[in-house]
Amino acid sequence: MSKHIAVLTSGGDAPGMNACIRAIVISAQRNGDNVTGYLRGYNGLIDQQSVPLTCERMHNLTQRGGTILHSARCDRFMHQEGIQQAADTLHQDGIDTLIVIGGDGSFRGAHKLAQHWDGQLIGIPGTIDNDITGTDATIGYYTAIETAVSSIDKVRDTADAFDRIFVVEVMGREAGFLGLSAALASSADFVILPELFTNSENCLTQIDQQIRQRTDERGPVSYIIVLAENCWPGGINDLVGQLTNTTGMEVRPVTLGHVQRGGPPTSQDRILAMQLGTYACELTTQNTSGVMTAIVQHQLVAVPLDTCWSGKKPLDAACVTTMQTLMNQRY
Ligand code: F6P
Repeated sequence: MSKHIAVLTSGGDAPGMNACIRAIVISAQRNGDNVTGYLRGYNGLIDQQSVPLTCERMHNLTQRGGTILHSARCDRFMHQEGIQQAADTLHQDGIDTLIVIGGDGSFRGAHKLAQHWDGQLIGIPGTIDNDITGTDATIGYYTAIETAVSSIDKVRDTADAFDRIFVVEVMGREAGFLGLSAALASSADFVILPELFTNSENCLTQIDQQIRQRTDERGPVSYIIVLAENCWPGGINDLVGQLTNTTGMEVRPVTLGHVQRGGPPTSQDRILAMQLGTYACELTTQNTSGVMTAIVQHQLVAVPLDTCWSGKKPLDAACVTTMQTLMNQRY
């Protein structure tokens, strides 16, 4: 019997979400199912705003950043009334399966929805932060790394020309995945991440000692610090002020911000998005519900949604060691 599948994108958009929508729609059509897209995250469910998603609409979509369904953080969905309205829409529209592409906050919402609606619920991890427990990678993470790295490479040119210190702030909310990968791949001199941060004094002393040692050996040097957002007490400008006082050098801040969320997805994100989307459709043919599609050691798996908030996902220990070895090296 054919199914009516609904899809929405929720929370921070991430490059690759469109490739994922495309994979879902094409796979669903193959199974003989219909797909409806709800607009602007859970708002679309509450306000009953949707569009039919057909294969024709999927043309030329893979390479586009953002999400054709638009996204939002929906305050109304935090309350019982909003959740009930969303459930009513799903009943009225005859939806059998809801696929939510988003982060852990969106999945918590989906979990609550399950108390009001007995249809099939499937999550697909999409966020540049890669902070979802239960999956090795999330859609958009790889593209955001590339965007951050190419920006830091450019900052490096002007930092070298002026022998300046630059602090480059990357996104990640409360997690250092993006910061660590961007710092490692761009050969940053220092990285400040929530998972590794002990105290400001320690960081300032380490940075100052390293710059003095290099300056003594080589003369004026440039120095790049990658800072994860929300990590430094008082924010990036306080860090810049403190570094100026400690080192006596010129220090400049660069906040990469939302540029990290845009742009065409890298091939790695496209492939991940297609795999997770196709796998979600495979799950629609089974009785599995309340799960997230995930990639674990290159295998596609379905994990219970509550895995996502069962504990904090650790940074890759090998990457941490590599970064610490390289940034503490005398050269
Ligand atoms: O969740 C992705 C993310 O880009 C985080 O890295 C960042 O902290 C947050 O979203 C920013 O959210 P907003 O776009 O609502 O300001």
